[in-house]
This record gives sequence, structure tokens and C-alpha cells, in this order.
Amino acid sequence: MAKKLFIETLGCAMNVRDSEHMIAELNREEPYHLTKDAKEADLILINTCSVREKPVNKLFSEIGQFLKHKKEGAKIGICGCTASHLGEEIFKRAPEVNFVLGARNVSKIREAVAKEKFLDVNINYDESAYAFSEFRQNPYKAYINISIGCDKKCAFCIVPHTRGEEISVPHELILAEAERAAKSGAKEIFLLGQNVNNYGRRLSGGKRDEFNFSRLLTEISKIDEVKRVRFTSPHPLHMDDEFFEVFASNPKICKSMHMPLQSGSTAILKAMRRGYTKEWFLDRAKKLRAMCPQTSISTDIIVAFPGESDRDFADTMEVMEEVRFEQIYSFKYSARPLTSAANFTDKIDPEIAAQRLFALQTRHAAILDEMTPEYLGAVKEVYFEELRDGGVVAGRTSQNNTVCAKGGEELLGEIKSVKITQPQRLILYGQVI
Ligand code: SAH
Ligand code: F3S
Repeated sequence: MAKKLFIETLGCAMNVRDSEHMIAELNREEPYHLTKDAKEADLILINTCSVREKPVNKLFSEIGQFLKHKKEGAKIGICGCTASHLGEEIFKRAPEVNFVLGARNVSKIREAVAKEKFLDVNINYDESAYAFSEFRQNPYKAYINISIGCDKKCAFCIVPHTRGEEISVPHELILAEAERAAKSGAKEIFLLGQNVNNYGRRLSGGKRDEFNFSRLLTEISKIDEVKRVRFTSPHPLHMDDEFFEVFASNPKICKSMHMPLQSGSTAILKAMRRGYTKEWFLDRAKKLRAMCPQTSISTDIIVAFPGESDRDFADTMEVMEEVRFEQIYSFKYSARPLTSAANFTDKIDPEIAAQRLFALQTRHAAILDEMTPEYLGAVKEVYFEELRDGGVVAGRTSQNNTVCAKGGEELLGEIKSVKITQPQRLILYGQVI
């Protein structure tokens, strides 16, 4: 009988792809069936995130729950960024855990499962050119890693310490993977990496790839079966005009740009080591809106970074007013071990942090309420990818809005024109025409 695998994936899209890689690798030798019920699983994997403190704190109580309810003989493995970060300590705090596998050691999953006890969290391990087996949770949208790691070392961010230095995946591998995915039905290719628009700077061994990110986008879009190309995350520092030109002129590139601001204050950006100023960010957003007016811009914002004054926070609010982001992921600063900001002493009072987050989110909700009615009556091209309850299918516009319409399986994997009849802040409801 096939073994059953329960896998919980926390955090970002890279973790989603890492989970798919683990599933694919496990299936190489013996079939594993995915289950949503940890109690019946033979193997339980938690693919963790360490970007903020809260989920890390919850990890050990979660492990406790799994240990209590798991089937006898079932194995439990902790993977991802918290595995990289805590390593051996996970065994100390939860000795029943069978293996700890870092975010940069995904290709070793079968070895990890085969052993009684296994630990590999080496962040210098290079699997940038490893040929993973194929598995996709969503057949319509193919996530493809174009790089591993991150070279930036932003003062608040633990990622470079859990995913190691930045190495690009050779463009030949990316193109071959995109072609295979597209031929098997994925009309959308979603490129993943930290600083994707810095692609090609260093391959394994140190050489540059002959493609930069713009060229990579162009070549992928030449694959006939590919209808849409998306990517995350680009870095504002590397948003040059050439990149914007390719973005604006290529109809297959989705018109949705993530521009992680983090802070609107030049002084705080400097302390964060982001490499750009408030003015640079505003200039880039303005240029992008001018070159490609239909673009929707999303962002990440951290409030209450150490030393953030009222004036600094007002700068963040100002950037939000000027850019009018279509989507914001906002967070209170969370001190993370191994990062330089963890040693900063001018911490912000948690009460003030909460007030700032609330002010930012409230104002952004109001901005969305001003924008949303404009969608009424608009006709959008929607790529349907998910069935929802009640005879509804959900998909996305090029701008990354979620659209729901009446329909069923016949719409999955199809791009259709939808007239928006009921726009809401987070979902546009419409009718296929
Ligand atoms: N590569 C991306 C970010 C990856 S982490 C970039 O260029 O920005 C995802 C997001 O989590 C970040 O953009 C940031 O907004 C948030 N984040 C990272 N570390 C954080 C911390 N210590 N506290 C609060 N939010 C954090
Ligand atoms: Fe983190 Fe900055 Fe890299 S946010 S992932 S160190 S670009």
C-alpha cells in the first residue's frame, strides 16, 4: 500500500515550491499519497518559515500536537528556514523528531527519510543545478525557482542566514522546465527567487549567466503554450528602465509588480541596508506607472523598525499615498537572531508599533475602497485555476486581482473574458462573457 504523506507549508512561494520538490523526490522510489489528515500519515513534514518570530514560537507546540496524534511508527521531519536556523536545537527541544532538513538541502529528502536520525542544514550546499523530479500542486500554474539564496543582507532579514548566498539556476534548466510545464498544461509560469531582477549575476562556480532577468523573461514568453509569466520578488534597487521596458512591452508578462518598499524613510532604508532612497522608490514607481499604466503595484512594509520616528513613519504613509499600492503586506518589525538589526538598541514601544500598523492598514483599506468601485463593469481576462464552493471558480487577472465567477471544471485552465458585476476589496465577482 502506498505511504501517506502529510505536509504543512508555511511562509512564502519558495517554500511552496520546495514542498513540491520534496514530494517529487519522495515519489521517485515509492509512491506517497498526500493526505490532509496528519493522524493517518506515515510521514509528517513541516516546511517552516523563520522570517518573523511568532510562527517559530508556535513550531514546538505544533510538533507536540503531531507527536501526540501521529500513527505509530510515523516519521516527522522539520524542513525549511527554521530548520536551517535552529538545526540541532530542534532535536534538543523535540528529541522525537526524526530529521531536520534545511531550506538549502531539499534534494536530500529521501536520504533524510531513509535514516533513523538525520540532520543537514548546511547553507553552503549548492543545489542550484539539481534536477528535481516533477510535481505540481496546481497543474495550471508552474512555480520555477530561478535562483537560490540571497546576497543582500537587509538588516532585519534572516533569509540570507537560512538560504545562504545567492546563486542563479542556469537559464537552460529554467527554459527546459518552463517548456515541460507549459506542454503539460501550465499556461502560467511563475518565476521565484529573492531579487529575481538581479538574475544571472552568479552561477554555481562564480560565472555570470549569459542571460539577465529581462532576457530570461523574453525567452520564456516565446514558448507558445506559455500565456502568462509572473515573478516574485524583484528588488526596487534593480528596477532599471530596460527591465521596465521589457515588462511593459511584452503582453505575456502579467502587469503586476511587487515593489517591496519596507520603509518610506530614507534614513530607515539606510539603517535597513536596502540600498535605495525614498526618492528612488517614488521615481521608479512613477516611471513604471507612466510606462505601463495598467500595472498594479504591491508592496511589503515593515513598521516600527528600530529607531523609526513619527517623521519616518509619516514618510512611509506619504509613499503609500503617492503610489497608491493595489496591495500591501504589512508587518510589525520582529527582531530576528543572526540579523544585524537584532543588536539595535532603539527598539520601538510595542504599543506604538501596533498603532502604526493599524494606521497604515486602515488608510490602505480606505484607498482600496476608493479604487474598488472603478472595477464595476470592466471586462478582465481571467485565468481560472481553482474551484470554490457553491459552483464558483476563481482565477486571476493579469494585475493579480482574484476574480470569482459562476462555473465549474470546464473553466479550469482557461483564460476567459469576465465582466465585473460586484467588485469587492479583495475579490472581484463577475460573469464570464
Ligand atoms: N526578498 C524580499 C523579501 C523576503 S522576506 C525583498 O526583497 O524584500 C518577505 C517579507 O517579510 C519582507 O519583504 C519583509 O517585509 C518581511 N520581513 C522580513 N524580515 C522581517 C522582520 N524581521 N520583521 C518583520 N517583517 C519582516
Ligand atoms: Fe531578505 Fe533583503 Fe534578501 S529582505 S531575502 S535580505 S533582499
